[in-house]
Amino acid sequence: MFPVERPRRLRRTAALRRLVAETSLAPDDLIAPFFVAEGLREPQPIHSLPGHYQHTIDSLLDAASRAHRAGVGGLILFGVPSTKDETGSGAYDPNGIAQVALRALRDSFGDDFVIMADLCLDEYTSHGHCGVLRPDGTVDNDATLELYAATAVAQAEAGAAVVAPSGMMDGQVGAIRAGLDAAGYTDTVILAYAAKYASGLYGPFRDAVGVEIAGGGDRKAYQQDYRNRRESWREARADVEQGADIIMVKPAMTYLDVVSDLRRELDVPLCAYHVSGEYAMVKAAAANGWIDGDAVALEQLTAVRRAGADFVLTYFATDVAEVLSA
Ligand code: PBG
Repeated sequence: MFPVERPRRLRRTAALRRLVAETSLAPDDLIAPFFVAEGLREPQPIHSLPGHYQHTIDSLLDAASRAHRAGVGGLILFGVPSTKDETGSGAYDPNGIAQVALRALRDSFGDDFVIMADLCLDEYTSHGHCGVLRPDGTVDNDATLELYAATAVAQAEAGAAVVAPSGMMDGQVGAIRAGLDAAGYTDTVILAYAAKYASGLYGPFRDAVGVEIAGGGDRKAYQQDYRNRRESWREARADVEQGADIIMVKPAMTYLDVVSDLRRELDVPLCAYHVSGEYAMVKAAAANGWIDGDAVALEQLTAVRRAGADFVLTYFATDVAEVLSA
């Protein structure tokens, strides 16, 4: 018989498969997103994100402790204010809900857990856009940058080790770095949502933070077009040049080509955000008994690592970390 390639030899036992596995997924490769809402008495379940809540400060600390105990690498915080306005002032108010929660997290965890703050205005603006508007209703890029810098300083002051600008304004990383440095926060890390696509997968998130874009609008004038791949390299390179410490691709599963490209092109840490719609799809199919949710979560998150991400932001973080460390 002629000699055939026999790759199956290495798949025969679980021990052999472990030995030759090219990719690993560990609890500290995962970052857990959390929502904290102003003025709540009880945590409110988010129906389109089963297992997740708009938290009170107390329930946030409990959920963060559970994630920390499971070995999760850190958390990213989103604030849900009780009132919104044209300029999103709750985002940069030193007593805004995110800042209040960041102080509580810092007091509980110190530097033992990586505390990240999402940096954007959309949860705080009455019109739901990621920046301030011109009279004609379009987003004013450069006026928004000043508010992002102020938000970064408020978050750093409150205890965020990492600020994560997600608004896709041009020049946002440079403006934030300059603002942080001028205020003395030279050690605050910037995790840039560099390649962020205008995706249909953010629906459950918008429920979670109560964002409705005015006039049934969308974010296509600032988030990326999903037909484009090269453009992500341009976005990411600009962010690194402006001082981004870590680069993110978002969403994850539909953009693994982009993760793979950026891993090859850049030498900074890279992550991807497995977003709310990605989580909701797995949960919904699993709830119908159509797929094994735990198995698919593990497969998807490992695929993000295989494509080249160092870590993954995911609503599965605590559950998967508990499975991995069991
Ligand atoms: C913007 C922001 C969004 C998400 C994270 N930051 C929503 C958007 O761009 O519309 C989405 C995350 C998710 O869907 O899980 N502040």
